[in-house]
Order: sequence, then structure tokens, then C-alpha cells
Amino acid sequence: MTVSPPVYLDNHSTTRVDPRVVEAMAPFWTVDYGNAASHGHVFGWRAEEAVDQARARLAAALGGEAREIVFTSGATEANNLAVFGAAEARGRRRDQLVTVATEHPSVLDPCRALARRGFELTELPVDPDGLVDPDDVARAVGDRTLLVSVMTANNEIGVLQPLREIGALCRQRGALFHTDAVQAFGKVPVCVEEVDLLSLSAHKIHGPKGVGALWVRARRPRVRLEPRLHGGGHERGLRSGTLAVPLIVGLARAAELCLEEREAEAARLAGLRDALLARLMEALPGVALNGHPRQRLPGNLNVAFEGVDADQLLVELKDVALSTGSACSSATPGPSHVLAALGLCEARLKGSIRMGLGRFTTAEEIDYVAERLAAAVQLVRSAGSGR
Ligand SMILES: Cc1ncc(COP(=O)(O)O)c(C=O)c1O
Repeated sequence: MTVSPPVYLDNHSTTRVDPRVVEAMAPFWTVDYGNAASHGHVFGWRAEEAVDQARARLAAALGGEAREIVFTSGATEANNLAVFGAAEARGRRRDQLVTVATEHPSVLDPCRALARRGFELTELPVDPDGLVDPDDVARAVGDRTLLVSVMTANNEIGVLQPLREIGALCRQRGALFHTDAVQAFGKVPVCVEEVDLLSLSAHKIHGPKGVGALWVRARRPRVRLEPRLHGGGHERGLRSGTLAVPLIVGLARAAELCLEEREAEAARLAGLRDALLARLMEALPGVALNGHPRQRLPGNLNVAFEGVDADQLLVELKDVALSTGSACSSATPGPSHVLAALGLCEARLKGSIRMGLGRFTTAEEIDYVAERLAAAVQLVRSAGSGR
């Protein structure tokens, strides 16, 4: 197979929609386009049935129940609903929030907004590999803790946090446990057993942009949330607004495909990812991996090139889509808060690149990227030393 640049290696930012997902969504744009809340005619019934089926399939993919799924416009909204929703529904005693320095801004910023309103906020550090220490969680969580939010997998360095231990701790101490599973869901096993709230997004799993979900535990214990959007009372009153039927159908189909193919795909991606790192390390001195070497997503690579400004590298590499940080915070440029939390020095912060492999990444593309990246690093290094 030949490579036709540009090569896309930014699958943490977003993913190409799988044609099988497009096919599943197609009838709901132009044929079965009814409003799922229109109960008086067949268009509405068909839309409602499609949403019911999607809800059941997504719940099954998570190991939960259909009534526990709240469809949203994406994970930013799901994370906001989890954090603000829990805070606004709280009893009087609990006024502390616990999260981690490397969380996505859609978790950190709501927590910080609540801190400005009087909540106590603890942002836990991570170790140099990007992992949070469950002992730190144990020290931070007490009988005043309302909510603990720890992401399943990081969107920059791909590290997988020890959710099971943290979940057990939260349960013991009566704190709610939320996880942002956006990057992990569909790629590594994710189960709602140990959490109370879980956020996910379709566009990270080869589904459409503009749709996501919050899973909200209904039993043992039943989690109470205050809605953020008020209106027609959709989604059991938790998220008013006309349901985006084609997008919801696409989300469920994307989730199903990921689960069907997950094991084989994870092995394939990890193989390609490891080969890419090995090639870069062979070709160049001064290459360092950011984040835990094994406890990470199969498709993630985050690498620092000594003596290189990563922004300049991207200028040299217009035929490869890579990133220096996270697109999610592109509105607020600056050094990555995730890499900074690992305690990396300034030079390593500046010289780091994130690569995200996905379903459509081929072995030929990885060969191409390894060659192009090594050449670009050499070029930038020699231009720098000539200054
Ligand atoms: C870890 C994580 N959480 C939340 C989000 C926000 O998701 P969405 O784009 O669906 O709002 C993203 C990606 O942008 C992400 O990577």
C-alpha cells in the first residue's frame, strides 16, 4: 500500500468517522428525521426507537443500564454536568472536591469555578510518569469530600490511572467518583463497576462530533445531579434539548465497533506505536518518552526531542498531522499543563510531540512518519546549532 500524505497522526484530538458509522446514521438525516419526543406520529416513534436502541447498546458497552445514560453534546458538557451537577445537588456537609493536575480543562475549570464559589479544591500531583498515587488520594479524601474526578486515560501522554483502587477508596468514604473516560473508552477495557459517573465522546472513537454521554449510576448508590440545561425535561430531566438522533445512533454504532474490534486493534496499534518509537530512537540521539512506558493507551506516543523546538518541527512537517499539546485547550496556548505536571524541564516541555495512532493508521504510514520525523528533527537541530 502506498502512502498518500498528509498522514493523520492526531487521533487524540479527533478521529475519522468510520464509514460503517456514517451508514448507520444516514437514514436519520433524510428519511427517519422525526423528533424523538414527538409521540403522535410514526416519524417520532421511529426516532424514539432508534434512540432507545442506541441507549441500550451504549449501556451494554459500558456494563450499565439504559436508564443510566444521559446523551449530551460531547464530553465537555458531560464533564461539566458531572462536576456542577453533583455540586449543586449536594447535601450540606460535603464541600470538598478532589481532582488531578493532569485532568482535561473541562474537568479542571468547572472544579476551579466551584472553588471560587467556596468549595475546597484539592488538585493532586502526579509522579514523573504521570500516574496519581492512590495513597495521595487516600490522604486527600475524607468525610467532607463530595466528588473525586480522575480521568481513565490522559489525552496527551495516554497514561492509565489506577481507577480500581481510587474507586474503592471513594466508595469507603462515601465520596462520588467521576472519571473522564473519553480517551480510554473503546480502546482499553472500561467498566462502570468502580465509578459513579463516567463521561465519553463519540468523535474520539471514529464517531461523529457533537455528541457524547454521561453515565450516571442509578443504584447502589443512586447518584443525584442537578441539571445544567433546563427546558423540556429530556433525558429524565437531566439534559433538556431535542435529541440529536443521527449523532446518537452514530455514537452507539461507533462504540459497538470499538468493542468488537478492541483486542485485535489494541495489539495492532501497540505494535505500530512501539515500532515507531524504536525507529526514532535508532535514528536519533536525545529521544525521551513522556509518560509511563507500559501503563498507557496502545495508540499513544509522546516524545521529547532534545535540542528541538516542537513548534518548529511541526512547521517542517506539514505532511504529517501531529501536535505539541492538546487541541482541546488550543484557545489558551502555552506549555502543556500535563507535561509541566510531570516536572519536566523547560527544554523538554518545548521539545515534546504527541502522536495518536488510530483505526486508519497503516504500517506504511508509520514507516513514512518515522523517516520524515527523524529527518525534520535533524534539520531543526542543525539549523539551531548553526545560529
Ligand atoms: C480527556 C478529554 N476529555 C474531554 C474532552 C472534550 O471532549 P468533547 O470534544 O467531546 O467536548 C476531550 C477532547 O477534546 C478529551 O481528550
